[in-house]
Amino acid sequence: MQTVQREVIRLDNVSVAYSGIGKPAIENINLSFKEGKLIVITGPNGAGKTTLIETCLGLLKPFKGRVSLLGIDTRSRKVINVRKLCSYVPQDFMRPPFETYTARHIIKLGLAAKKQLFDVSTLDYTSKLSPTIKLLNIDDLLDSPIGTLSGGEQQKIFIARALVREPKILFLDEPFSSLDRDSREIVADVVRKYVNLNRATALLVSHDLNPVKSIADEIIKMRKGKIVEVKYM
Ligand SMILES: Nc1ncnc2c1ncn2[C@@H]1O[C@H](COP(=O)(O)OP(=O)(O)OP(=O)(O)O)[C@@H](O)[C@H]1O
Ligand SMILES: [Mg+2]
Repeated sequence: MQTVQREVIRLDNVSVAYSGIGKPAIENINLSFKEGKLIVITGPNGAGKTTLIETCLGLLKPFKGRVSLLGIDTRSRKVINVRKLCSYVPQDFMRPPFETYTARHIIKLGLAAKKQLFDVSTLDYTSKLSPTIKLLNIDDLLDSPIGTLSGGEQQKIFIARALVREPKILFLDEPFSSLDRDSREIVADVVRKYVNLNRATALLVSHDLNPVKSIADEIIKMRKGKIVEVKYM
């Protein structure tokens, strides 16, 4: 039996510009993403990859066209509600050395945001966390202040935080940028399994196609604010 795959993100003729900059950062974009899919967005620096995913999340609003996130127009105030069903690990995730929250606390805060709980200490999160933490091999990092961890270690903590929130849509902007080769493969594998098990969607931005070639359903190439190629794998 064939199952119907719901569309979770849709962009119709979307153009976005940053204030004070005349030229649009992305222009006339038409895309549709379905549940259960892992989509990779690639392209050179300045191509518009980060702009595209922040537009999907409704953090940037188009001056032309329409974006729908989980059925909600991102210009609507209701976008806040559907954004809670998404996780986003931005490109600039690094925390400064003086930040004293432990890695464990950072992960717990991700859960608290979803459950709208103020007191994170009341959360029973251990059972949910443990498989992800084992897979990412970050057990030994949990009690360290986040700012004292290396770039790659912090990156794994933020990816773990994004996953334990059990998002419908997972947005990862350059999730391999600080990772060694083995860790890249582990993260790619964890994301693929998460998408399959939860009928979720992942939008993953990466310059480097090596870790994702074998797991992607679609590879979208961008250049100068435009989509130049869509490849179905
Ligand atoms: N905050 C901003 N203000 C003005 N222009 C911006 C801003 N952020 C991005 N841009 C411009 O928008 C265009 C697309 O940038 P974007 O960050 O989306 O590219 P990217 O593909 O993510 O690049 P990278 O691979 O370097 O992360 C670039 O020309 C950039 O200069
Ligand atoms: Mg970027």
